[in-house]
Amino acid sequence: MNHELIRAGRARTAHGLGRLRRATDRVGWRQGPSRLIDDAKSYWAGNSAARGPMGSLPIRTPGSSTGTQQRVTWEANSHWRGGIGDDAWCEVGAEHLAMFRMLRKALDNPPDLGVVIEWGCGGGANAAAFAPISERFIAADVSRESLVECVRQVSTVRSAPIDTLHIEIDHPERATAGLEESCDIFLCLYVLELTTGPEEAIRILQIAERLLVPGGMAFVQIKYHTAESRPPRYKRNYRRNLANMTTFGIDEFWVRSAECGLEPKLLTLVPKNRLDSNYAYYALTKPAVGAAVEYPIADTVRSVGPFGSGVGPRGTASQ
Ligand SMILES: C[S@@+](CC[C@H](N)C(=O)[O-])C[C@H]1O[C@@H](n2cnc3c(N)ncnc32)[C@H](O)[C@@H]1O
Repeated sequence: MNHELIRAGRARTAHGLGRLRRATDRVGWRQGPSRLIDDAKSYWAGNSAARGPMGSLPIRTPGSSTGTQQRVTWEANSHWRGGIGDDAWCEVGAEHLAMFRMLRKALDNPPDLGVVIEWGCGGGANAAAFAPISERFIAADVSRESLVECVRQVSTVRSAPIDTLHIEIDHPERATAGLEESCDIFLCLYVLELTTGPEEAIRILQIAERLLVPGGMAFVQIKYHTAESRPPRYKRNYRRNLANMTTFGIDEFWVRSAECGLEPKLLTLVPKNRLDSNYAYYALTKPAVGAAVEYPIADTVRSVGPFGSGVGPRGTASQ
């Protein structure tokens, strides 16, 4: 009996079944938003028994041009150092910081960062790169375990402590009370595609607009679709499809950011990296008080007034 042939046959069958399941997740009935949110909550914020072994973030194994869809642990999906490995983890932070600096420079913004909040910090890959050069760093996530891991990683590169914010997936605004207009930079990287639909993603942009000081900048990444390559918007089975739950057209996200009161200034694309494909990164700025956000595609101009009652507490720990 040829064991190699049997193994190859089993792998092909498993691959075929996976494709079939994903196809039915696209065309089958849609699970309601509350069911998807519950599933997202139990996956990210539940205990390890509740989350189970399944995830579906495609990891491109180094050296492979095709990429392989494989079962990925929760720690890998959360971008923990031990989950994606040292090289990939360091690359995430270094590449995001380099891209961020390129956009800041192109916008003629000052190099110092001030107060930075990262929405969905995971295992701290970006935090370890940005926190050492920030005046204050606030790590926010829906998973308390990831917050602990993020703090642990940052403590190896920054002596001053960072703050943490625990987000409830279904009430994300709650965590931010008192922080309105107190952040200079809002980071959200490798998170929006995991939201259960475009409206949840846009809700996070609205939060960014509230947290930023006038003149502050959001550095936000989405997964994009195009007419030719349209990653599926899945309708159900969050756990299986989490890496592609929410995608936007590149121009669609540009316009929707403006509708949230954030002025889209620049964008850069990463069609493929070792983790996945179709990444678009936006530099969005909050206009100075009284300035207008121009809709770059529509022909209207909207005036943006000041939000809330003023500056939130700086230097106070939360959670
Ligand atoms: C793929 S990891 C990305 C971590 C980090 N931003 C990075 O670039 O390495 C996604 C993180 O987003 C968190 N997350 C998932 N849904 C979220 C939501 N709706 N709001 C905030 N964070 C969320 C997860 O707990 C996880 O830590």
